[in-house]
Amino acid sequence: MAVSKGKYIKLQGKKWSTFQLSKMIMALVLALGFFMLIALRFFSPPETSHHRLPSVRRTAFQSDGLGKRGDQWVEFISWEPRAFVYHNFLSKEECLYLISLAKPHMEKSTVVDSKTGKSVDSRVRTSSGMFLNRGQDKIISNIEKRIADFTFIPIEHGEGLQILHYEVGQKYDAHYDYFVDEYNIKKGGQRMATLLMYLSDVEEGGETVFPAAKGNFSSVPWWNELSECGKGGLSVKPKMGDALLFWSMKPDATLDPTSLHGACPVIRGNKWSCTKWMHVNKYI
Ligand SMILES: *[C@@H]1O[C@H](CO)[C@@H](O)[C@H](O)[C@H]1NC(C)=O
Repeated sequence: MAVSKGKYIKLQGKKWSTFQLSKMIMALVLALGFFMLIALRFFSPPETSHHRLPSVRRTAFQSDGLGKRGDQWVEFISWEPRAFVYHNFLSKEECLYLISLAKPHMEKSTVVDSKTGKSVDSRVRTSSGMFLNRGQDKIISNIEKRIADFTFIPIEHGEGLQILHYEVGQKYDAHYDYFVDEYNIKKGGQRMATLLMYLSDVEEGGETVFPAAKGNFSSVPWWNELSECGKGGLSVKPKMGDALLFWSMKPDATLDPTSLHGACPVIRGNKWSCTKWMHVNKYI
């Protein structure tokens, strides 16, 4: 390579103007920067600890739902199980509406017998509850559409909403939402995900707890506000309007045992919640 005097550089027998050369170097630098960005995007390690809880702001849906909802954002809770909290998923008016629909019809909650698949009374679940019909009215339909938009699971895969009430001392011991009997998966196949909506605040206790979650439970920012039961796992505190989404199946469609969860006993106050169970197939 020989550098000539003046404004030409000789490279492998070719003459390059310094202008051409600087353009080429600029293109190289740009390409290098681009590849570095791509590499960072794909090769950064996944978030495994709970030390930072990243969150994503959501654009409000153009929804004609009841009332006005507060700031909406989705907070990552855990990968094992896969769990997220959608803040202000429901408006206060929607929460009160759901409670008012259910209140006159509450019955003692049952659990599914794993051998017969039948509903039975149980001491592990002491709440009372009632089922609403899917698409029962415009307000319910609107909420169900919102759930489908958030989860990407079609409305037809969901069971009717279930409203639950826990008074002081009432709880639901740790359990799975997926079925281990043949009877209950006939309709809609296995339960894949659960959206748990909190219709009230709870003064103390009443947390949703995942005792088999992987990670450091005590690093959640709300650790000091948890009850003794809540400290037995990764916990989410009920807050009116918030919705907790968790998956009972892993992305490879196998059951996820880390989705084991319970409702801690209410210590002070009252807990109202609303559950949407979603199946892998249409639930008709
Ligand atoms: C868990 O998190 C807490 C709070 O951030 C920290 O003090 C503790 O050392 C952590 N424990 C482990 C085993 O990493």
